[in-house]
This record gives sequence, C-alpha cells and structure tokens, in this order.
Amino acid sequence: MFSNIFDTHAHYDDEKFDGDRDEILSALPSLGVSKVINCGCDLKSSVESIKLSQKYDYFYSAVGIHPHEAEDSSYEQLEEIQKLAQSKKCVAIGEIGLDYHYDFSPRDIQQEFFKKQIIIAKELDMPIIVHDREAHEDTLALLKKYRPKGVVHCYSGSAESAKEIIKLGMYIGFGGAVTFKNARKPIETAASIPLDRLLLETDCPYMAPVPFRGKKCTSDLIEFAAQKIAEVRNMQTQDIIDIAAENACELFKIQTE
Ligand code: NI
Repeated sequence: MFSNIFDTHAHYDDEKFDGDRDEILSALPSLGVSKVINCGCDLKSSVESIKLSQKYDYFYSAVGIHPHEAEDSSYEQLEEIQKLAQSKKCVAIGEIGLDYHYDFSPRDIQQEFFKKQIIIAKELDMPIIVHDREAHEDTLALLKKYRPKGVVHCYSGSAESAKEIIKLGMYIGFGGAVTFKNARKPIETAASIPLDRLLLETDCPYMAPVPFRGKKCTSDLIEFAAQKIAEVRNMQTQDIIDIAAENACELFKIQTE
C-alpha cells in the first residue's frame, strides 16, 4: 500500500457521496491518503468545502465559481467567495477557469468570472486552481496577463503549452486521465515536465482511473495515475506520490509535521 497521498482536487461535497460521504472520508487516511483539497464550484459548494475542512483534520478547502456556474452566479457571490477564502484551512481560489467544450455559460461571462477571481486570489496572495477545457489559448493569455500562482488541473493540453504554463511559475495537475487509452498528450506532458511542477489529483467523484473507469472515484485511487507517471519516468510510484505531495505543500503553503 502507498502512503502520503495528497489529492489536490476533489469534490466530496458532490451528491454522489451523499450516501457514504462520512464512511469514505473516515476511511481514507487508513488507505494512505494524507491530505485532500476539496474544491468549490459555486457559492454553495464552496461553503460545503469549508465545512468539510473543519470536520476532517486532513482536509483543506478551495473556494470559487466554476465556469459552468458563471452564468448563474453574481458579483455579490464573488464578494462572498472573497470572504470565505479567508477562512482557516482555505488554501486556494478554485476551481475557476474556462470551459469551451460544454459552453454552459457564455464565453464572455466565463472570462469575466475567471478574471475577477484571479484578481481576488492575487489580492489575497493565494494560488488558483484552474479548469481549462478546450480553452487553452484564452486560458494561457489570461494567465500570462495576470501572472497568478497556481495549478492547471486535469491537464489536457500539449507538452508545449505545459512549458508555457511552467514558465509562468505554475504547476500541472494529473489524475485518472493519464491512465486512459487516449492519454497521449497528458502522458507526454507528465513524462517531460520538471518534477517540481507536478501535482496529483482525482477530481473525484469523476475521472476514476483505469481499471475503475466510469465508477465513483475516491482519493486513494490516485495510485493508478502515480503508477502510470512513474512508469513513463522510470521511477518508483511512491517517489512520485511523495514528490507531488511536497510540491502541493509548497504551492498551497501547508506546513508539514
Ligand atoms: Ni473539478
């Protein structure tokens, strides 16, 4: 069994966990999970994230409005997000960004919410957790313009644009997607980026790795992504997990005992 797993991106407030949330979260530390950051997607789930971080010692929270929710959110809610961000154990603004795959919110509104939340993060000197789906060019342009700290999560771009992101001082997050059959791009990126820029995550309950694809994901399943990355880098899985955990503590300013 592996230890020291730091899941930098989870959604345990999701209704898919309504039946077994406490059972799962009580068990994770015994399955090698040492830290989890739960990400908000709107005001309500950001409040839930904070609550989870108060309930579980090994939990931290991020608060933010996801591009899917931008259209149904208000600037007043962004003020609430800014207040929540100053709660104890809140370590980032996220998840925020652009999603041109689903386009659930009009693109100009997505961009407006992304920008405003980057500015909030910069004011509070906090990192951001970025969602970028089929919006690589506009995401990179905004990151270049505002130069926030943070991570591009569930990385799906090319190894080339990962270099650009890393040049800005940011991190790249990898999860179950590196185990998928069509994972050529994320694998190339995971094999080539500097190790000190690599983070691990699940995006649970979504993105369960092979051989659990389509099932409900939990943080302990990070080992499958770590294993795949270790394989392409010719390293030990536990070393990848340890390095990623150290990187996460550095980015999210979490003290280690
Ligand atoms: Ni997510």
